[in-house]
Amino acid sequence: MQLKPIGVFDSGYGGLTILKEIVQELPQYDYLYMGDNARAPYGPRSFATVYHYTLECVQWFFAQGCELVILACNTASAKALRTIQQKDLPGIDPDKRVLGVIRPTTEVIGHYSQTGKVGILGTSGTVQSESYPIEIAKFFPQVEVYQEACPMWVPLIENNEYDTPGADYFVQQHLQHLLNQSEGIDTLLLACTHYPLLINKIRQFLPSGITVVSQGEIVAQSLKKYLEKHPDLARKCSRNGRLGFYTTDSTTDFDTHATRFFGQPIASKHLDLGRK
Ligand code: DGL
Repeated sequence: MQLKPIGVFDSGYGGLTILKEIVQELPQYDYLYMGDNARAPYGPRSFATVYHYTLECVQWFFAQGCELVILACNTASAKALRTIQQKDLPGIDPDKRVLGVIRPTTEVIGHYSQTGKVGILGTSGTVQSESYPIEIAKFFPQVEVYQEACPMWVPLIENNEYDTPGADYFVQQHLQHLLNQSEGIDTLLLACTHYPLLINKIRQFLPSGITVVSQGEIVAQSLKKYLEKHPDLARKCSRNGRLGFYTTDSTTDFDTHATRFFGQPIASKHLDLGRK
């Protein structure tokens, strides 16, 4: 019988911080992870490019038998998800599902704040898309949202340079820019799946009383509820507790770096995309 794993996608390693929490919450399912490392980072790329790359990856997941794919990447969720859901899925297979990480996060983020002022740290693409302010306004219309793009953070993390004085400089700089936008911001959302690796450094440079929220647990909880609400889809997803990992770039590099994101050793396979 063909396995029907849940697909988990990111431009690179960041989605592993989400997968880690999902596996902890729902260990019974099979999962297939793919990082498009050869074309990362997605953060600075245009809408058209992020959409094109993401759709190609989603189609690959479908070809592997996935009925459900999670875009564990804020940039892809911000710039490609809606078009894929509305324009592409009905033609590909209306029964398959693609979900992102922005909606589940915006549904709950307002609950973390006492002051009603929330800061968003993300890639240039995520910030530019305005997805967070737009979505948060739907669930928490009274919450004020402030955003800061941190274009250096993903390269620092991907290159394992995130625990260096250079990283200190860029972390402090962006936190300062964000906090300068308004007094009373008491909640900071790490709206990029790479940023949890910086969480200790971020906390170190923040004044006390500010809550830092990362998305992994929120997305995992939301997926659990989604599968409970959609038993037909849940039944189609295979359950043997298996994990598979693919990267579009070097498997040696992927396996070396991925452990930091996933918390346990990974043996990935190579996948050629976008070179035809
Ligand atoms: N992990 C991606 C996100 O959550 C960003 C990485 C990239 O720029 O490719 O936005």
